[in-house]
Amino acid sequence: MNLTLKIWRQANADSKGKTETYKISEVSPDMSFLEMMDMLNEELIEKGIDPVAFDHDCREGICGMCSMFINGEAHGPDRLVTTCQLHMRKFNDGDTITIEPFRAKAFPVIKDLTVDRSSFDRIQQAGGFVSVNTSGNTQDANAIPIEKSNADKAFDAAACIGCGACVATCKNASAMLFVSAKVSQYALLPQGKVEATDRVTNMVNQMDEEGFGNCTNTGACEVECPKGISLENIARMNREYLYASLKG
Ligand code: SF4
Ligand code: FES
Repeated sequence: MNLTLKIWRQANADSKGKTETYKISEVSPDMSFLEMMDMLNEELIEKGIDPVAFDHDCREGICGMCSMFINGEAHGPDRLVTTCQLHMRKFNDGDTITIEPFRAKAFPVIKDLTVDRSSFDRIQQAGGFVSVNTSGNTQDANAIPIEKSNADKAFDAAACIGCGACVATCKNASAMLFVSAKVSQYALLPQGKVEATDRVTNMVNQMDEEGFGNCTNTGACEVECPKGISLENIARMNREYLYASLKG
């Protein structure tokens, strides 16, 4: 495949970025999108041009690092896959592909396609955990019976990999799908109920402090989420937050 790539280049957070155009040939349809980017970078290095900075780690859809906005969609045109799992067979010979970073005020660009998502880390640190007494009397988690439907829903919510595609897709740059997945994964389990009101209050407050926008129920986040996180989690988080507010 021969392709034209229009890629956002930005030297650092303070510089003004711009789109650069690169031609690439002999791309195999069986390559992953990141392998195609590796190939481009090898060619750029050979020509003495600064390679394109992009995030990646696991390359198997687990770590949530590979944040790219491809042809106007977070993680590109495929569904329920991350950029690292996107294959070049989803494109056609002769295509022009536009590649941008995830854009949101709370995700400032570090360089090229790499953005700073430490705002997500701070939201997690505000409440995305359970405090367990490790004195030696810790109860085996498997000893607590959990209704199957709740266990399934908690597991589905826990599938969120914190990639930020929901934020990049949302017209308001809202982080509600991410935060609601993290809140839900604990709210549905007895182990999470102990700190539930503090958790939802602190995580939502931190989300607001980080400068994410509000949810207006558009639903684009759910469509572009590579892990199929359901909007149902946002409704659950809103209920949890209301309960916590009334409880004071
Ligand atoms: S909810 Fe989906 S899109 Fe958002 S961070 Fe989690 S996995 Fe990524
Ligand atoms: S590189 Fe880990 S999810 Fe893509």
